[in-house]
Amino acid sequence: MPIIEARNLRKTFAKTIAVDDVNLSIEEGEIFGILGPNGAGKTTTVECLTGMQKADSGHLRVLGLDPATHVADLRRQVGYQLQSTELPDAMRVGEAIDLFASFYPEPLQPAELLDTVGLSRLRKSAFGTLSGGEKQRLSIALALVGDPRIAVLDELTTGLDPQGRRDIWRLIDGIRHRGVTVVLVTHFLDEAQALCDRLAIVDQGRTIATGTPPELIAHAEMSAPGISQDARPVNLEDAYLAIIDSTVDAPEWKKTS
Ligand SMILES: Nc1ncnc2c1ncn2[C@@H]1O[C@H](COP(=O)(O)OP(=O)(O)O)[C@@H](O)[C@H]1O
Ligand SMILES: [Mg+2]
Repeated sequence: MPIIEARNLRKTFAKTIAVDDVNLSIEEGEIFGILGPNGAGKTTTVECLTGMQKADSGHLRVLGLDPATHVADLRRQVGYQLQSTELPDAMRVGEAIDLFASFYPEPLQPAELLDTVGLSRLRKSAFGTLSGGEKQRLSIALALVGDPRIAVLDELTTGLDPQGRRDIWRLIDGIRHRGVTVVLVTHFLDEAQALCDRLAIVDQGRTIATGTPPELIAHAEMSAPGISQDARPVNLEDAYLAIIDSTVDAPEWKKTS
């Protein structure tokens, strides 16, 4: 049984169709990427999966539970890194991680986790004084401190410098080796290629392709049969762009009927 399943997920906000028809099947222990342009519906999708938003329709199961009705059960087992973590400016890094650890029955050691994300020396610093990258590292630590079975990381490395990105990639790889299932929302293709076992491309609220990075490259080649040898997709970024380009715009996109 997949650890996460979404079939025909749909979510609208007033006149906006945020998610039109998303289909995902994620196996336990994999790093699964959700890729797509800005506004494609990625964040809304993971918000529905974590119970933060209620889907209009569709079938959702996370750890065998319906997130709409089992929010509390899932909160203990699913770590969610919000796209922008907002904490009180005066709260110190060490206080924030201790507070989040206190929500869980068997949390990780806050001090060790701060060390892993490179924030040990900022333990006494107030949230409001952190740089964007430091806030990002803290939000990752807060998502992981409960030792979750599933970690949902939205725009994991946005705002980090190259060194910081590589540190976080190593951290994610380490989490996978402990058996945690990782859902990674990203629009960095290098990150997806380096980390993800499989991924889904979401465009205009729909999953338009799913597979391993090599499968998506092969898929993109097949969808561009007349293309010259030089222009054939050779990496995930080429494949991603070719797949997005070949999607026909949904006529009703952004308008509810
Ligand atoms: N709470 C909300 N209220 C109204 N519209 C929203 C809300 N959340 C997202 N949307 C809209 O839904 C669409 C998808 O957004 P989002 O899921 O954040 O996309 P992504 O994460 O792929 O960039 C966008 O058009 C966005 O403006
Ligand atoms: Mg988003």
